[in-house]
Amino acid sequence: MSPGSPSGNTPSGPDLRVNFAGIELKNPIIAASGTFGYGVEFEDIVHLDRLGGLVVKGLSVEPMTGNPPPRLFETAAGMLNAIGLQNIGARAFLDEKLPALRTKKNVVVFANVFGYTRADYERTIGILNEGEGIAAYELNVSCPNTAHGGIQFGSDPQLLDEVVRTAKRAARRPLIVKLSPNVTSIALMAHVAEEAGADAISLVNTFLAMAIDAETRRPRIANVTAGLSGPAIKPIALRMVYDAAHAVKIPVIGMGGIATPVDVVEFMLAGATAVQVGTASYFDPVATETLAEELTTYCREHRIARLCELTGGMVTD
Ligand SMILES: Cc1cc2nc3c(=O)[nH]c(=O)nc-3n(C[C@H](O)[C@H](O)[C@H](O)COP(=O)(O)O)c2cc1C
Repeated sequence: MSPGSPSGNTPSGPDLRVNFAGIELKNPIIAASGTFGYGVEFEDIVHLDRLGGLVVKGLSVEPMTGNPPPRLFETAAGMLNAIGLQNIGARAFLDEKLPALRTKKNVVVFANVFGYTRADYERTIGILNEGEGIAAYELNVSCPNTAHGGIQFGSDPQLLDEVVRTAKRAARRPLIVKLSPNVTSIALMAHVAEEAGADAISLVNTFLAMAIDAETRRPRIANVTAGLSGPAIKPIALRMVYDAAHAVKIPVIGMGGIATPVDVVEFMLAGATAVQVGTASYFDPVATETLAEELTTYCREHRIARLCELTGGMVTD
């Protein structure tokens, strides 16, 4: 991206570009998986080319219908979801969604991948390798692993190591490993992902949580437990990004409750190279684009010439 391009990075303006895994983004704002459909659904309301990039809904080998409703519930400063990884399947994504995204210039697309077994991840990546126009894969390792009695890949170091190695072998594109926050040591899991071949890590996914209707005495979510996201999780996510960034040399993509330019700056100072924005799009569908604009203004007002220089820049003395 050259200075003076439509990104808003004019010669006199702040340079918002960031780089990770050999990918250059015009700014660090990436729409998070599961909160931005397959990107195309948002094209009428968001200028996709003004975002750093977008991550599509988690893709599996076969289409999935997800969990029964209710699947969403708003909590104090957050949101519970148990969508259950509903998606159209990797093949349909290539045939029905990716061609439309490819007609757009300057849109960086990341494909989020999940499976219940290592073979699932391998097969999904194998299908996606055939498509053109995907910048990298983001491996969602937070799903139940039925082959291992409900343990999650993302909460067992040995399983994480194996699934990342499998995915890395299969992938013809850079591999971002998205870590689960439902672990005791995020530093250990970040280290395991790096050793197994991840080109970058992203965190956090949602926190296991639940809510009960005291009147009916029923769970608010049909699945009973769900994932908590939004501003409520931001301080915990920030701590985890900080811990993970200190455990690895590969780039870290931070997320969890980000909604304002100050949030972005905090995550970058904690060690993030780029950030993702999820639940904010539920409160305001244009939140991602607005945030990219506001970030430009923020940098101008705070005389930040090169945003990427903030990464890991927290001052402690
Ligand atoms: C409704 C919903 C669906 C989600 N689906 C996925 C998914 O398919 N794959 C994934 O890796 N993360 C998924 N996530 C997690 C988000 O990408 C993100 O990691 C999390 O919500 C924290 O960021 P936020 O607080 O900005 O939303 C989903 C989150 C929400 C709220």
